[in-house]
Amino acid sequence: MIYHKLRDGVDNQYFLDQIKQTKGKVLEVGVGTGRFFIDALSRDADIYGFDISRSMLDVLKTKLNKTQQDRVSVQNIIEFQFEWDEDNGKRTEIWKSPLRFFFRYELEHLIERTEFKSYQIFGDYKGNELGSDSKEFVVVCRR
Ligand SMILES: C[S@@+](CC[C@H](N)C(=O)[O-])C[C@H]1O[C@@H](n2cnc3c(N)ncnc32)[C@H](O)[C@@H]1O
Repeated sequence: MIYHKLRDGVDNQYFLDQIKQTKGKVLEVGVGTGRFFIDALSRDADIYGFDISRSMLDVLKTKLNKTQQDRVSVQNIIEFQFEWDEDNGKRTEIWKSPLRFFFRYELEHLIERTEFKSYQIFGDYKGNELGSDSKEFVVVCRR
């Protein structure tokens, strides 16, 4: 409840707008109790989520119907798997992700070496520049 109150108005509209523009599937890492997951689902987003905390997901599941509950799972971002339907049945991919802090220029250096077509870095969810007094560190990568 406290987190919900603190963050709503900071990032939820941003994420809902991004999700709306997304044509494919959306995966929310660390979905928690579904602060904007529920809104995204009600707007017909093909969204999935996972969280390391079973108790957070238990709260989220009380807000979902039986079919929707299959969209969320208990997993750790360090190594997680994502399964989706494709023409010839189900496909699964395992992803590994180191969980640590990144400095801006280190991250830029790493992104430059990926297959992303472009990226942008902001200091908030309104698109303002990242600076030493920014409260957020938002990185948007596009394929
Ligand atoms: C700050 S909350 C954000 C929840 C939700 N995304 C939101 O905006 O309301 C961060 C969430 O990440 C989850 N989390 C922390 N470490 C994680 C990990 N290693 N793998 C997956 N989820 C993790 C926590 O359990 C928590 O629910």
